[in-house]
Amino acid sequence: MSKVTVVGAGNVGATCANVLVTNQVADEVVLLDIKEGVAEGKAMDIMQTANILNLNTRLTGVTNDYSKTDGSDVVVITSGIPRKPGMTREELIGVNAGIVKSVVESVLAHSPNAIIVCVSNPMDTMTYLIHKHTNLPKNRIIGMGGALDSARFKYFLSQALGANATEVEGIVIGGHGDTTMIPLKRFAAYRGLPVSTLLSAECLDKVAADTMVGGATLTKLLGTSAWYAPGAAAAQVVASVLHDQKRLISCSALLDGEYGEKDLCIGVPCILGKNGIEKIVEFDLNAEEKELFAKSAAAVHKTNSALPC
Ligand code: NAI
Ligand code: 2OP
Repeated sequence: MSKVTVVGAGNVGATCANVLVTNQVADEVVLLDIKEGVAEGKAMDIMQTANILNLNTRLTGVTNDYSKTDGSDVVVITSGIPRKPGMTREELIGVNAGIVKSVVESVLAHSPNAIIVCVSNPMDTMTYLIHKHTNLPKNRIIGMGGALDSARFKYFLSQALGANATEVEGIVIGGHGDTTMIPLKRFAAYRGLPVSTLLSAECLDKVAADTMVGGATLTKLLGTSAWYAPGAAAAQVVASVLHDQKRLISCSALLDGEYGEKDLCIGVPCILGKNGIEKIVEFDLNAEEKELFAKSAAAVHKTNSALPC
């Protein structure tokens, strides 16, 4: 029996739960929120698709009752406030740090062996906070941001190429922030062909720039931050762990010398399997990419320094 808990039944958490149920990723999913009735209502609504879509995953919604999350294999943390138009992810730090700390304590009291997937923003800093607060082995804490940013990169690449998004390869590393993420243009490919042979340098630069502000663009259009791709990206991370898929996904991982950085969670290519982050893959970055990564790391360190003690 596999079990996943999603904490936070807001836009991202409920979407993640919906994808987990629709794709039948786990046998059992628990959706938990502090707001009375919200998780129960959304779980009931999602479960009413079961007969229509022929689904067998069981989803339960609960109001802050962690006993129902007992023995979860993976826990996704989406609780916290999202950004509004004009806000950066970093501005959420004070409120979300308190929420994430208390949530992770409750989660571990009931699922001491769970792999934790952190979504709440500023995600790299919240992932780091979970490491510092719990002292869990570093493979068990995964920050989800690069999976989403990479999906956005592949979306913009497919639009520029006029291609099917599933046939495009691309990865984004660095911090999950408008100015800190690094779409690796040099490694992007269409059916094995480097995209630099298919798109002009200007066009590729625009794709990278659109990717970096991908979240902000949607926040402006929607009045709050996006949820369909974020929820699906979190579910993709869960699936790779739960089914030991060994997929290479950009995730925020605690670095200990990899990419020249230490004591920092930031987006790097990771192999995700049943033990969580099973390997950090070191791409052979060129001088320009190394410089961008060092700058991104410095910015994430700075945000971490604003964490309340
Ligand atoms: P939302 O406001 O729709 O949902 C957040 C939910 O968390 C609410 O239902 C709220 O009641 C709940 N909550 C607050 N405190 C809680 C607690 N102590 N215990 C349980 N539940 C609690 O927000 P949305 O859009 O779902 O975003 C959630 C978080 O995810 C935000 O911090 C947002 O910035 C972040 N995010 C991160 C992304 C990433 O790629 N890492 C992408 C998109 C959003
Ligand atoms: C996003 O990238 C705001 O992190 C959120 O959509």
